[in-house]
Amino acid sequence: MIKQTKVIKYDLEASEFNWDIAPNKTIKAWGFNDQVPGPLLKANVGDTLVVRVTNNLKEPTMIHWHGLRVPASMDGTGVAQKPIESGEVFEYRFVVPDAGSFWYHSHSNETVQCERGMYGALIVEDKADPVTDGEKVFMIDDMKLDADNKFTKPGWFVPRIIERHDGREGSTLLINGKENSEIGIHDGQTERWRFINSSSARYFVLSLGGKEFKIIGTDGGLLEHPRIATEVLITPGERIDIAAGPFNEGEIIPIESLGYNRSTYLTAKRQKFATVKVLEKKPSVAFIPETLRTIKPLVKQDANITRKVKLSVGPSLKDGMDFLVNDDVHVNDKPVKVGELQIWEVSNTSLMDHPFHLHGFFFQVIEENGKAPEYLAWKDTVNLTPRSRIKIAWMPDNRPGTWMYHCHILEHHAAGMMANFEVIDGNKPYNDMIHTHDHHC
Ligand code: C2O
Ligand code: CU
Repeated sequence: MIKQTKVIKYDLEASEFNWDIAPNKTIKAWGFNDQVPGPLLKANVGDTLVVRVTNNLKEPTMIHWHGLRVPASMDGTGVAQKPIESGEVFEYRFVVPDAGSFWYHSHSNETVQCERGMYGALIVEDKADPVTDGEKVFMIDDMKLDADNKFTKPGWFVPRIIERHDGREGSTLLINGKENSEIGIHDGQTERWRFINSSSARYFVLSLGGKEFKIIGTDGGLLEHPRIATEVLITPGERIDIAAGPFNEGEIIPIESLGYNRSTYLTAKRQKFATVKVLEKKPSVAFIPETLRTIKPLVKQDANITRKVKLSVGPSLKDGMDFLVNDDVHVNDKPVKVGELQIWEVSNTSLMDHPFHLHGFFFQVIEENGKAPEYLAWKDTVNLTPRSRIKIAWMPDNRPGTWMYHCHILEHHAAGMMANFEVIDGNKPYNDMIHTHDHHC
């Protein structure tokens, strides 16, 4: 059978606009095509996406395709491309090789641009996806607004160091850019709900009022087997796909986040983001098989470590605290070679959580605090609890260039918890390529 792939074109215009997050609650958002989130981009595995980005903001921007295995030059970071200046156009072009729930977001001045709404979902479908009665994408976010619905600026020393320490969390809770939205699902039906945590720093513990759901996928697509759960943690940057339903007509079910204590000044509390209303009964064609796909383990748990990455914090006179990778800020890490399997020990010696994100490549967690994880998954973002240690395995396929990893709490990333590194073609000598610091100021 010949696989038909297509070239799919999208236009995104970044600008500032008024956005209603609720009736009579309007913010000055920054985003794409006058909406928060930006347009939902869709493709099938193997398609080529061409996304023309016009920057009509007053400052430069770049778009990162979170989770997509794109060429290095399309990764949308300061080491991969020149920023798209105000008034300029840049065309991203890449093939989407994997099915799953991905997203795009600004990778320039992120603590401001992402907070204001510069993100959207990118869904890649495949014939092997399970059949459901419908599908919804939920982008989780929160905003920190003052009484006039303006974005607060932590100008003073104490609020500034607290926001740097905790990451920016706000009390305006959004799903797809709206407060308190109502979501419908029909009695008897099962839908695929794709949750994407696009917030700056919120730890979202998904709960549907205590009802059971099936976790069917995460960052890099489907799991091997559905997992029945009543709650699941989704840290900033992570994705979780669930099969939701069937429910009964008339039921009212909250989409909420349970409290998660990540040892900050913030208090962990249960909060409602939206409400699901169960509508009249409809027939169902949904079928969630017991085996969704197979995932081959990259290595055994006891494989030798090839690199250590330590996340920690240290005092800073100017800013209260610095966020460190291997005891330094904004690091240039050693190169890796195409085709050489990577086994990284990532440790967190600090007393707070950090979601570790690797650009451009999926990894498997092969060990968590000395134990094998309960199940296999392809990940690009994984949470490290305080004083924890994991082992991840990943393969640098043939996409040489400059890549990065960082904490996906945007304030921690900006405060130094990031590193660039080269993926080099093993056949060419590595002659100390020139590194550029990616400062994200
Ligand atoms: Cu979604 Cu560099 O991040
Ligand atoms: Cu962090």
